[in-house]
Amino acid sequence: MAAAARVTAIRGPALTYTGDPFQQGLEATMRYEPDAIVAMAGGRIAHFGPARALRGKLPRGTKVEDHGRDALIMAGFVDCHVHYPQTEIIGAYGAQLLDWLNKYTFVAEQRFADERHARAAARVFLKECLRNGITTAAVYCTVHPQSVDAFFEESTRLGLRMIAGKVLMDRNAPAAVSDTAQRAYDESKALIARWHGRGRSMYAITPRFAPTSTPEQLAAAGALKREHPDCFVQSHVSENKAEVEWARALFPGRRDYLDVYDHYGLLGRRAVYGHCLHLSERELARMHETGTAIAHCPTSNFFLGSGAFDLGKATRTERPVRVGLATDVGGGTTLSFLQTLNEAYKAAQMNGYSLSAGHAFYLATRGGAHALDLEDTIGSLAPGMEADLVVLDLKSTPLIAFRMRHAADLAEALFIQMTLGDDRAVRATYAAGKRVYARPAQRFG
Ligand code: GUN
Ligand code: ZN
Repeated sequence: MAAAARVTAIRGPALTYTGDPFQQGLEATMRYEPDAIVAMAGGRIAHFGPARALRGKLPRGTKVEDHGRDALIMAGFVDCHVHYPQTEIIGAYGAQLLDWLNKYTFVAEQRFADERHARAAARVFLKECLRNGITTAAVYCTVHPQSVDAFFEESTRLGLRMIAGKVLMDRNAPAAVSDTAQRAYDESKALIARWHGRGRSMYAITPRFAPTSTPEQLAAAGALKREHPDCFVQSHVSENKAEVEWARALFPGRRDYLDVYDHYGLLGRRAVYGHCLHLSERELARMHETGTAIAHCPTSNFFLGSGAFDLGKATRTERPVRVGLATDVGGGTTLSFLQTLNEAYKAAQMNGYSLSAGHAFYLATRGGAHALDLEDTIGSLAPGMEADLVVLDLKSTPLIAFRMRHAADLAEALFIQMTLGDDRAVRATYAAGKRVYARPAQRFG
């Protein structure tokens, strides 16, 4: 922290995690402070703790914004997989994955050749992220390098820690959204040089999925990851049964779908795969072994009829796989992280596992940061962490306010939020210590 950095602070009940409750239990990892202060300076958290202990430690004249007893301060939500160009086709009717891609997605993504279109879309998308308390996301752009420039320029303007990359496709897609193996390499390399590690921007090498890349293009992506090991890799795997069969037919020499990416050096820490619905035990074990992460996209999986992700199986203590949560807009139907938690609960229920609210809010914050290998930087409330925060209003609608009167304890209050809450529950969002969203006043009752 710079010595002269000005300290600002917020006050209210606060929730954070010091470890992984799926592995160590909630008791050991969840920290709730009924009246906390989070003090911020130089873009980071300077102090976090009970208000009574901290008040005397803050520099004289520090402005403390009190959010009151019906608030809950948390680390900002981490969306591990989302497509900003698909904001304009969210909620498109009546197709499963492969038809949906051809009918809506590849059509919409062509418009991002126009940088002005890309910039306008990035603005809408990022504004929507902040309205929902999302402060970091792993974002797919389109094949056009200008779609990446537009995105990072806008996220930089807001001071956000964002991960993004140019989509790579050199087969099975329209020419207007395709590149070649060589162009994929050259354009990604130039974008890495321009953006990775510049301010809060980080680059993700982004082969869309195995069926739209030739072996040569996947090899080029693998070479980029070898040359830039601290860049991310993001792609899709095992979302839909027809997709799985297609990938296996295109790469008959590989053991299974995940092995295609493995073969080209695309697994490991900072590699994040969307969906992972139909993975075999071998594939899950390989993800565990390599530190590869799953982006669980429940609203998308239900909307596209892909299936219900088995969270209990993925996080099994003998071979836990890193799991983060994701909206996957526009296959996903909302940027509300609370609604994403709601659907994650239902997906787990379909597999006989009841996701607790304590575990769910871990996934939304520190768990997502862990999946992205960023848990030392974002995802929790602790001195030294980057000051990205969300403040929830625990009584954001008449129904929630009424239901909260009957909440017996913290676990129940949190579960009500994730079941009934949405964008209206987000009262404020902070990025690098600055307030970047404040909900307009709302009155009811
Ligand atoms: N698989 C390949 N591309 C996509 C995409 O854009 N969205 C989803 N949900 N799955 C994909
Ligand atoms: Zn996706």
